[in-house]
Amino acid sequence: MNRIIVFFAFAILVVSCKGSKQQEINTGLITEKAMIVSARVEASEIGVSILKQGGNAFDAMIATDLALVVAYPVAGNIGGGGFTVYRKNNGEIGSFDYREKAPIAATRDMYLDENGEVIPGKSTLGAMAVGVPGTIAGLFKIHEQQGSMPFSELIQPSIDLAKKGVIVTKKQAQRLNGSGELFKKANKRTIMLDREWKEGDTIKYPNLAVTLERIRDNGRDEFYKGKTADLLVDYVQKLGGIITKKDLLKYEAKWRKPITSGYKDIRIISMSLPSSGGISLTQMLKSIEPYDIGKFNHNSLEYIQLLTEVERRVYADRAYYLGDPEFNNVPLDILSSTAYNNKRMEDFSWDLATKSVDVSHGNIEIIESDQTTHYSIIDQFGNAISVTNTLNSGYGSKVYIEEAGFFLNNEMDDLSVKVGVPNMYGLIGAEANSIEPEKRMLSSMTPTIVEQNGELKMVLGSPGGSTIITSVLQNILNVIEFKMGMQESVAQPRFHHQWLPDVILFENIFDTVNFTDLRKKGYHIRKGNSKIIGKVDAILVLPNGNLEGGADPRGDDTSVGF
Ligand code: DON
Repeated sequence: MNRIIVFFAFAILVVSCKGSKQQEINTGLITEKAMIVSARVEASEIGVSILKQGGNAFDAMIATDLALVVAYPVAGNIGGGGFTVYRKNNGEIGSFDYREKAPIAATRDMYLDENGEVIPGKSTLGAMAVGVPGTIAGLFKIHEQQGSMPFSELIQPSIDLAKKGVIVTKKQAQRLNGSGELFKKANKRTIMLDREWKEGDTIKYPNLAVTLERIRDNGRDEFYKGKTADLLVDYVQKLGGIITKKDLLKYEAKWRKPITSGYKDIRIISMSLPSSGGISLTQMLKSIEPYDIGKFNHNSLEYIQLLTEVERRVYADRAYYLGDPEFNNVPLDILSSTAYNNKRMEDFSWDLATKSVDVSHGNIEIIESDQTTHYSIIDQFGNAISVTNTLNSGYGSKVYIEEAGFFLNNEMDDLSVKVGVPNMYGLIGAEANSIEPEKRMLSSMTPTIVEQNGELKMVLGSPGGSTIITSVLQNILNVIEFKMGMQESVAQPRFHHQWLPDVILFENIFDTVNFTDLRKKGYHIRKGNSKIIGKVDAILVLPNGNLEGGADPRGDDTSVGF
């Protein structure tokens, strides 16, 4: 594989970091011109090979995305959807929405039984959980508007990879082996991937290779009108699902204006609705801004308290106000204003926790946080792209179209299956996110680009369901307020609060704070339920113009560049 790393600075420094005990700091890959950080080395390498052929960041994005379908099928997908935020070297910004949609036949109560109770698993496992996929429409739209190389050249490396096969990592083997029963249940039979895997095995995807070849030869319509569409609809319907050919025919990816907002001397460019990511991140930063957070120690009691109280209020707004903008009139101007967010923080007290009393505690536990995938790209021309894609949970609905070689999402669970009932991430939804035909489900994905003093500073994002927004927030604060490098930042222990359930979730690796002090102030703590919170892949532009990759050590993530 043509992998040239011009300058790999892997310096392990022992420093005394402000507010934390002596710790090891890893510097990430540093390159001069271009970088891609993604969940799999194969995908980062394929994307970089496109840049080396003279392709731009958009070309590399398409190639990386398709490589993740092969190398990281737990989240990389053509059966799901995602969001892409970009900032070109001339400062022009934009975003693409290729989020899934509810099928035309979807109804408000489709996941409830005759007593109005939620039928367990119906919105998460099997064909009824599947939203109309958007990824291929998104990639072709991005290519049409911003690509510079032929699509056929961008998809070919993934076709070759699917034929040659991918080496299974330890984490991947664990995930596949842990999913066998669900694969069987969702597909009503055994699928190709349901066997015992071990680290070092090779998985080949011959049927996926043929699907990608058809897409290469027939273009976007192959997925929405061609043989792939037939295979998808036939299989989903055979399993009792409701997606039709008309759903696929009507699907459209959209260009959207990103959410932009200021925080001190930085400008955030992030995803707009139907993702809550950009607006919620904006609200959090606006709420934090008056507090001079840099004077607190990193991950100290005060820091955790302030972020918790900010997050509590913002997630409460998220649940009530946010949903597909084509179905709702969302008061974005007010929600993003300094005045509104300052007012929301007026009842915050350093002495006692505010209580999220409206609804009793949810009992949802976030056990795995890496089933979506984020990657960041800066090309040799200075264009930046931030992309988060998902099937929702790991391998989505677990529905695997064997003949086509790919999984379908379970994104329908991101709509409110019943008002007030939490989804798999414990998020409560209201009317704005209720199920309606062709509605895009509210997302937390937060692909983000940061400018400082008008210059490109950082590209970042994360998987992690509801914890995505707070993972992105903490990494922005790590770099901007606590002056960390990118690798140092992504490796930091993280915590999360989302209004309901009224608990602060701490990663297992979190050990910098005395939980007794937080409990005394009335905070509920949950440590250990979440092995990891988010998996941030990011790039930082250093003062001398070099790029530093932050590849989250929680996964197999890798930075590659030149
Ligand atoms: O769009 C969303 O917010 C979710 N479907 C993302 C799911 C996710 O991040 C899974 N990873 N844990």
